[in-house]
Amino acid sequence: MTPWAVKGEIDYEGLMERFGAEPITPRLLERIKRHTGGLHYMLLRGVFYSHRDLDAVLDHRERGGRFVLYTGRGPAGPVHLGHLVPWTFTKHLQEAFGSKLFFQFTDDERLLIRDDVDEGLAGHWVLENAMDVMALGFDPENTEFIVNTRHASRLYPLALKIARGITCSTMRGAFGLGDESSLGKMFFPAMQAAPCFLASERAGEPVPCLVPAGIDQDPYWRITRDAARRLGYPKPAQVHGRMLPGLTGDAKMSSSQPLTAVYTTDVPELVERKIAEADTGDHPSRCPVYQIRYMLLTEDDDEAQELYADCLAGGMECSECKARLAETVNSFLRRHRRRRSLIRSGVEKMLE
Ligand code: TRP
Repeated sequence: MTPWAVKGEIDYEGLMERFGAEPITPRLLERIKRHTGGLHYMLLRGVFYSHRDLDAVLDHRERGGRFVLYTGRGPAGPVHLGHLVPWTFTKHLQEAFGSKLFFQFTDDERLLIRDDVDEGLAGHWVLENAMDVMALGFDPENTEFIVNTRHASRLYPLALKIARGITCSTMRGAFGLGDESSLGKMFFPAMQAAPCFLASERAGEPVPCLVPAGIDQDPYWRITRDAARRLGYPKPAQVHGRMLPGLTGDAKMSSSQPLTAVYTTDVPELVERKIAEADTGDHPSRCPVYQIRYMLLTEDDDEAQELYADCLAGGMECSECKARLAETVNSFLRRHRRRRSLIRSGVEKMLE
């Protein structure tokens, strides 16, 4: 697995260990709960399951300090349900901690990373995707969008400082890059790293940064943490999420296989058809039809547990379970699209 390709099964515990991250333990959950009141269902259900320095961020907070959040999106097409998992959790963190969020649109990423496609910068996806982000309810006053090509000057000075201390051999280890990799691929990660230090740089004092993201993004944070030590910024902290599985049995819902993904733009009939054709697993823990509900859409524990039990007891046919999921997804998407259509001009301003 690299940030740019996930193949086959994902061994989440193995990744956490290999990346040198820590599990989110019951004890840490208790501590988070003291800050946030209740615990978010994505924490209770282990969707976000691993971290680095989350305890240090809480220490800082308990001493009265503030921290910022940072996440992002490579805008290369419509948003699907898998993208909404980390963003939903990030929205919860912003609300619970009142933190400022930096949200980066790496509109340069696909152009540099995908040698096999050349679609240019796909500028209009930035606005389309940003509307999906804001429709989740982020506080516009406390959210700063950074579009790499448009706002490069906010990042470039930091990216330079970061890049000058990273060697090609580090990039080979973290990202699987090699002699055949382009200059663009080598430099790009410095631009994704830069927002981690932006709050500290602007404040002229250490402001910790917490990055909620899928664990596939971890290589970026490992090189950023090395850079932090060298440059005297706080190391960025992480909370790692699992990937929402694809409908056809892939470990990750992915735009490279459109039938595995439900996009926020899909019309109800298409949603029904995609879900009707989904592969179900032999157990809810391995079934995308259940996992989409459990990881993202059904907050209510009783409802989720009932379905789990019905499935195992054979009291619910897969076809009925799929029809129900399609209904849940469609009613979620109806509301999402309504909110989305109301905020266009506000989002345009945020992108200026
Ligand atoms: N590289 C991410 C993607 O492929 C986009 C991204 C940019 C990101 N900055 C981020 C993701 C910070 C998580 C956190 O979609």
